[in-house]
Amino acid sequence: MTRAVIHGVGHAVPDKVLSNADLEKMVDTNDEWIKQRTGIAERRVCGPDDSCTSLAVTAAQRALAAAGTSAEEVEMIVVGTVTGDFPFPSCSCLVQDHLGATNAGAFDVGAACAGFIYSVASVAPMLETGKIRTALVIGVDVLSKYVDYSDRSTCVLFGDGAGAVVLKAEEATDRGVIDTVLLSDGSGAKHIKMEYGGTANPPHQGLPEGMNPFLFMAGAEVYRFAVGAMGDACERVLERTGLRASDIDLFVPHQANLRIIESAAKRLDLADDKVFINVQNYGNTSGGSIPIALSEASAQGRLKKGDLVMTVGFGAGLVWGANLIRW
Ligand code: ACO
Repeated sequence: MTRAVIHGVGHAVPDKVLSNADLEKMVDTNDEWIKQRTGIAERRVCGPDDSCTSLAVTAAQRALAAAGTSAEEVEMIVVGTVTGDFPFPSCSCLVQDHLGATNAGAFDVGAACAGFIYSVASVAPMLETGKIRTALVIGVDVLSKYVDYSDRSTCVLFGDGAGAVVLKAEEATDRGVIDTVLLSDGSGAKHIKMEYGGTANPPHQGLPEGMNPFLFMAGAEVYRFAVGAMGDACERVLERTGLRASDIDLFVPHQANLRIIESAAKRLDLADDKVFINVQNYGNTSGGSIPIALSEASAQGRLKKGDLVMTVGFGAGLVWGANLIRW
């Protein structure tokens, strides 16, 4: 059987740090509240020279270098993002050009914080069926551009960043993407949304009266959904594969909120050393979150060949899903 195996991973975050102390000067909040409710100490936000595309390109170059793969070898570029530089062209096409990936197709996947999960799931069958041999999957978001820095209920949560993996088709291996579960519930679209700037409300018509030009999130509703969705997706993918939670070597969940991560880990009965957490350093980087975590886990020696890795994410849509991967 041919499998989609991860050969290299990399990430990129902006240099600019936005700490809890910085936010204390901007809104009525404090370090203790933010750490207690979210686990976040600081996040990175784009400066004038950073963009969704520039972060994606740097993460991709690092993943390609780690995999020892040239840009010309890549046959498909998939970018999980909801904050591309433009409505179109896609972020993936801009990345393709910057990399000089002259043999690659390119498309974006709009699944918010589950963008990386959905992107890996989209490209894995192309590798498994022999349509392509090498793919680049990037998760990236720059939500700082949509956040209202006078709204304390959202501005403390989000940061910018990108992560990338190089996937290759490999025969006769038990490594690679084992199985995937993807789920959605559009009736929850109202809970996290960015209404302005799409074709329903195009910018040239001006901001309709009463419309919020920033990211809106109903935190408590999303929290309840997230806690259920994370465990649900993990249990479904384990059931499909006949594997057990106790088989997981490293749990790499979407880094939105430490309490959500802890509750998912508890449901799966995972020991602390099996759970990767870096939300304290970056906040919620949406599509970037899981691949940044994979990249840091790999750099810290917490991912060894053959390890069973559970990645799981949830986000605006609502969407959620999990990938079970043999590293
Ligand atoms: N500092 C101080 N107080 C605050 C802050 C802040 N930054 N933000 C809110 N508060 C206040 C509220 O106003 C409220 O005060 P009140 O009781 O006087 O009205 C109080 O703190 C409690 O607010 P809650 O919203 O109940 O706080 P909660 O414990 O639910 O935490 C949080 C809020 C952190 C937003 C939580 O609901 C959460 O993490 N939700 C999930 C967010 C998420 O994971 N999003 C991911 C998807 S995003 C995507 O896909 C793009």
